[in-house]
Amino acid sequence: MNLILLGAPGAGKGTQAEIICEKFSIPAVSTGNILREAVKNGTEMGKKAKAYIDGGKLVPDDVIISIIKERLCEPDCENGFILDGVPRTVVQAEAIEKAGIRIDKVIDIEVADGDIVKRLSGRRVCASCGASYHTVYKPSSDPSKCDRCGGELIVRKDDEPATVLERLAVYHEQTEPLKDFYAARGKLAVVEGQEEVADTTALVLKALEA
Ligand code: AP5
Ligand code: ZN
Repeated sequence: MNLILLGAPGAGKGTQAEIICEKFSIPAVSTGNILREAVKNGTEMGKKAKAYIDGGKLVPDDVIISIIKERLCEPDCENGFILDGVPRTVVQAEAIEKAGIRIDKVIDIEVADGDIVKRLSGRRVCASCGASYHTVYKPSSDPSKCDRCGGELIVRKDDEPATVLERLAVYHEQTEPLKDFYAARGKLAVVEGQEEVADTTALVLKALEA
């Protein structure tokens, strides 16, 4: 199964990708995580991407397209994959299509902008392993430490309120048109993001069966 998770920043794509990829034993491919790792390691790509990410802007399409083409050729993607946070522009979606990468289904997780701001202001991420928590919805047992690896929990720089608003504006302008792109290809399923993570998962799984 080759799946795309679409949705605004903070809609819960990463949260759902983690659950679904475990259930189907396929990898989740997050361009956000790949880019943050590159920034952390100080690679050339990371240096280029940092200012875009910190400012809530999209990293240029050519960088993303080459990341995706390379990552999807790896052996663990042979039996399927979940794309989390990519494509994010029509140019990226067209490049995936032109490269002959088959997409079976696109799940769009819908969450109102007001709820997004609430969710992202409570998000905490592990500085070591990248695991994601929420102060209210998914707290770690020690508020300052990661349950998985004991690493320090921090606020992502692009989760600062002004940057979240910029990311939302970018989403509506550049990413939302992908709903029409995939609806026209008969691949789009829309799921209303729920208060509870498990309730959203149930809706996503139902959409996958349809
Ligand atoms: P990326 O890392 O992809 O960020 P994003 O799309 O903005 O998504 P998020 O990680 O913020 O949110 P999410 O939907 O995964 O939500 P999550 O599950 O964490 O991209 C970052 C940046 O990289 C971009 O701004 C851009 O610069 C660059 N980039 C990446 N890909 C790119 C591309 N293709 N093209 C160009 N540039 C690219 O959930 C959020 C919070 O809510 C968490 O705390 C979680 O615990 C909580 N939560 C989740 N589900 C629920 C629920 N049901 N109820 C309550 N809380 C919930
Ligand atoms: Zn950790």
